[in-house]
Amino acid sequence: MKLNKHSVIGVVGTGTMGTGIAQVAATAGHSVLVYDKNNDALLRARHSLIKIFNRLIEKGKYSQGEVDSILHRIQWVDGLGRFESCDLVIEAIVEDIEVKKQFFHQLKSVTHDDCILATNTSSLSVASIASVLKFKHRMIGIHFFNPAALMPLVEIVPALTTGDEVVKQVSELIKSWGKTTVVAKDTPGFIVNRIARPFYGEAFKMYEEGVADPATIDWAMREIGGFKMGPFELTDLIGQDINYTVSETVWRELYYDPRYKPSITQKRLMEAGLFGQKTGKGFYDYADGAVKPEPKKDKELGKQIVNRILAMLINEAADAAFLNIASKKDIDTAMTKGVNYPKGLLKWANEIGLEVVLERLEKLYKEYNDDRYRPSVLLKRNVQEKTDFYY
Ligand SMILES: NC(=O)c1ccc[n+]([C@@H]2O[C@H](COP(=O)([O-])OP(=O)(O)OC[C@H]3O[C@@H](n4cnc5c(N)ncnc54)[C@H](O)[C@@H]3O)[C@@H](O)[C@H]2O)c1
Repeated sequence: MKLNKHSVIGVVGTGTMGTGIAQVAATAGHSVLVYDKNNDALLRARHSLIKIFNRLIEKGKYSQGEVDSILHRIQWVDGLGRFESCDLVIEAIVEDIEVKKQFFHQLKSVTHDDCILATNTSSLSVASIASVLKFKHRMIGIHFFNPAALMPLVEIVPALTTGDEVVKQVSELIKSWGKTTVVAKDTPGFIVNRIARPFYGEAFKMYEEGVADPATIDWAMREIGGFKMGPFELTDLIGQDINYTVSETVWRELYYDPRYKPSITQKRLMEAGLFGQKTGKGFYDYADGAVKPEPKKDKELGKQIVNRILAMLINEAADAAFLNIASKKDIDTAMTKGVNYPKGLLKWANEIGLEVVLERLEKLYKEYNDDRYRPSVLLKRNVQEKTDFYY
């Protein structure tokens, strides 16, 4: 069975991600079956899509007729029974390996033998989820970014057991939905959630050390680094609970590598329920009338902050390339399209000069005597061989 524009798509879990994925698939012209075990969540998703499309009509992006057809293609179902007609099912339920395994165990008896089964997990092992299936070659990770309808990147994550044809078909289908795809190895955090760790972790560490306050670090990363948001304001938006959990998972799953060690400061925020914007307070206060702290606009300090975080990010990108997590090209694409970095990190490293980046890391490594700052073998090799990261 070849996936094409007539394929029926199933989406399970109508939280933040599932709702967006259903929107993308229906907009691309597919019949979409949507299920959530919680009927209220299903209803909420249905209303939220109607609202989103009404806004898009107001903005002139779609006509009423087009929206009617898109919404007509979505069927909100109250059980998995109807999923026997699906050619691809994308699961976006809770991030819990046991719940996901149980779900796929149930799903396999409902779907037809050619149906491709996919998980939108951000950090769990696709191979482990696939282990409950009889036909493991048809299970794959399809990792959308939030908000799914707007973010262009989708990481395609084959498990060890995934068939090559499944990777090809899924990549082609997702591209036909207007998305940019990259292929990532089934390793903790895949590409983006692995490489981006120091953007947060190193910023939190500098804050803990008293190098600068959150407002100054955010200012430096925005104004000097060219990033859309700084690490503190961005994690307040994502949710300190969600961001901390991803950090801790990646750290644990990578056998407690000190490079990924999470921040105690962020853990305490999470424990205190100070999740950020959604709870009214995180690193910043979002109460009515609260005054945002002013950054210390010291250019020299700002450059030091950016150079340290950037060196760590580049080191992660280099190591991901070294470990064949993805191709160099896909690594750069993932960071620009998945988290809006101003440049691909490997390209950026070429511009800065690899020897400059290595020098920054070696200085940190010497000063802290901590494996957290060990330079990637690939970076060292390239400097030794006087070559750039190439494509
Ligand atoms: N939120 C993000 O930014 C983001 C980004 C990329 C990937 N993801 C991943 O996508 C998945 C979903 O995340 P989310 O943020 O949309 O979660 P969410 O909590 O917003 O929604 C999950 C939904 O799944 C439903 N559900 C739970 N168990 C179910 C089951 N057994 N059968 C049917 N429905 C079930 C819940 O009722 C809920 O409505 C997770 O694996 C997450 O890691 C999340």
